[in-house]
Amino acid sequence: MQPQFFEVRPSSNARSADEREGLIKDPGFGKIFTDHMATAIWTRGRGWHSAHIGARRSFSIDPAAGVLHYAQEIFEGMKAYRRDDGRINLFRPEQNARRFNASARRMAMPDVPEDLFLAAVESLVDIDREWIPRGDGSLYIRPFMFASEAFLGVRPADEFIFCVIASPAGAYFKSGKRAVTLWVSDHLNRAGPGGTGAAKCGGNYAASLLAQAEAYEQDCDQVVFLDAVEHRWVDELGGMNLFFVFDDGRVVTPPLGGTILPGITRASIIELLRQRGTEVAEEPYAIDQWEDDARSGKLKEAFACGTAAVVTAVGRVKSRNGDWAVGQGDEGTFTAAIRSELLGIQCGLVEGPAGWVRPVGL
Ligand code: PLP
Ligand code: COI
Repeated sequence: MQPQFFEVRPSSNARSADEREGLIKDPGFGKIFTDHMATAIWTRGRGWHSAHIGARRSFSIDPAAGVLHYAQEIFEGMKAYRRDDGRINLFRPEQNARRFNASARRMAMPDVPEDLFLAAVESLVDIDREWIPRGDGSLYIRPFMFASEAFLGVRPADEFIFCVIASPAGAYFKSGKRAVTLWVSDHLNRAGPGGTGAAKCGGNYAASLLAQAEAYEQDCDQVVFLDAVEHRWVDELGGMNLFFVFDDGRVVTPPLGGTILPGITRASIIELLRQRGTEVAEEPYAIDQWEDDARSGKLKEAFACGTAAVVTAVGRVKSRNGDWAVGQGDEGTFTAAIRSELLGIQCGLVEGPAGWVRPVGL
């Protein structure tokens, strides 16, 4: 299916160029939305149908819709970048399509064919291309799917809505912080063995919110979740993966064991580092080891990564048993370099591995 698979019905209510420019000047994260959305419906026995791009509007769903009761919902997060030459890049969007379907299978939801997923994203970005901020900003794209069937029995639903919305975005963290402080969650878990940690489903984020609220109370930006069995091994943050950089040049990131999200930024960073000969180990790292290594100076830097946060240094870690600084408590040179290389590739300023950027609307 090609982009034209989505019938395009332009909004009659689109904001004026002046209004739009005012809104995207300093967009923050996730607060402002473009004029359109892509939607398609899946019905058991019929498959996908009614795919179209139209004005962004509220859904009308039944109060018994499955998503409202049993949280049968998944989503993705990806970005479109404006290049200096005026063209637009998507970054590895087929990886988002594949992860979306991996999440769908875990949540007993139908696959969204990769070409349908990509057609929805590309058609939406194309029609709302003027919403992509200039300079450092990008357009955050949020594909999602939820159970819309009205039925209170506990079983996979017979009807789903797939939708893509988009939001002009600046820095994820307030005031574009260069180094964040993390709160170690020692009793609240996000995911456990056999659970849904590797799926990008709304329920994982619901499970993380109380810990995130604790983090804010402690004046921290994000939560570090530990493994649910021993409360010892570092898993990931509420919305980002983690990397550790050591004084001998080695880099470590927690392995994908089913409880953490297989980040596309994570995989891309591993590939970029290995290509240039940096040793990257995907191995368990204990929270007490993190403290020891930070205090001894063996750990030079730590950073979080993800679509929304890009690459963000971890400056400090706080826990109920005390807190410690990582490196100088600021963004280090390793973190700054990988951040600028990745952003350079995404914006088309730096040549990346073949096929990583996909131009839109050509
Ligand atoms: N981990 C979690 C829990 C996330 O929500 C995200 C963001 O999507 C990531 C990791 C990073 O994934 P990606 O790099 O694909 O954005
Ligand atoms: C992303 O980086 O896309 C995320 O999903 C993180 C957060 C905004 C949920």
